[in-house]
Amino acid sequence: MRIVVTGGSGALGSLVVDEARTRGHDVTAISRRTGVDLATGDGLTEAVRGADAVVHCASNPRKPGPVDVDGTRRLVEALGPQTHLVHVSIVGCDASPFGYYVAKTKAEEILANAGVATTVVRATQFHAFAAMIAGALTKGPVALTLRGLAFQSVETAWVARRLVDHAEAPRPDGFVRATDLAGPEVLTGADIAVRLRRHAGRKAPHVLGLPAVGGAMRSFAQRTNLPGGDVETGGCTFDEWLATT
Ligand SMILES: NC(=O)c1ccc[n+]([C@@H]2O[C@H](COP(=O)([O-])OP(=O)(O)OC[C@H]3O[C@@H](n4cnc5c(N)ncnc54)[C@H](OP(=O)(O)O)[C@@H]3O)[C@@H](O)[C@H]2O)c1
Repeated sequence: MRIVVTGGSGALGSLVVDEARTRGHDVTAISRRTGVDLATGDGLTEAVRGADAVVHCASNPRKPGPVDVDGTRRLVEALGPQTHLVHVSIVGCDASPFGYYVAKTKAEEILANAGVATTVVRATQFHAFAAMIAGALTKGPVALTLRGLAFQSVETAWVARRLVDHAEAPRPDGFVRATDLAGPEVLTGADIAVRLRRHAGRKAPHVLGLPAVGGAMRSFAQRTNLPGGDVETGGCTFDEWLATT
């Protein structure tokens, strides 16, 4: 198959590229560094021409409007009728007022109404992202964490494998939302802060839980980022991932 990966230089996209190449597909990675800009549309139509599948991993969390929302619209308009779009989104994005998640929800809505063959796959936070958030406020012997914060974080490479599985599957007849993807276990922010410290060979920190301030923090404190009923779990655990870092 001819597979194009948007955001093919990113954390997830580069693993999708590797996996699809390993399976013998003809793969093109696109992003600004290959001359394709979703925020302007430069190079897009040529890049996706003739693709059997496009796995859409490009994103700009700091400026999601032009890339995640308008860029997704541009991408859909550039696709030929034979192309299956596999789009990665975030578990619980529609339950949070966090600006980036609002943009991810808008992108899903664009796809739901675009009339093109699309599979939307939501994943939970990747292990590296959960580690960054939960470890950000550990200073000296104290770790500050949002009270209630928890992750069911997932191995990025496993998500990449499942996205390639979707790209290889028969093209759906319109818009499909696939089963959500998540890692094998739920860990609190405190659990992760302690694991990170121990991994660094230091004593477990004293963890202080802070109350949420504002709607975005409240939604994380209420664990809207955790999957609901219909979820497929897989990939390595947080500890197994941490051991590889
Ligand atoms: N990180 C997580 O925990 C997580 C969890 C669930 C779902 N996801 C979703 O997974 C996807 C990939 O996330 P990631 O963490 O792999 O992101 P990432 O590492 O930040 O990669 C983003 C990619 O987008 C490209 N990009 C940015 N702006 C662009 C533009 N204007 N035009 C074209 N390409 C552009 C970047 O390449 P250039 O800089 O070369 O343009 C890069 O390849 C996102 O949709 C994200 O919402 C992430």
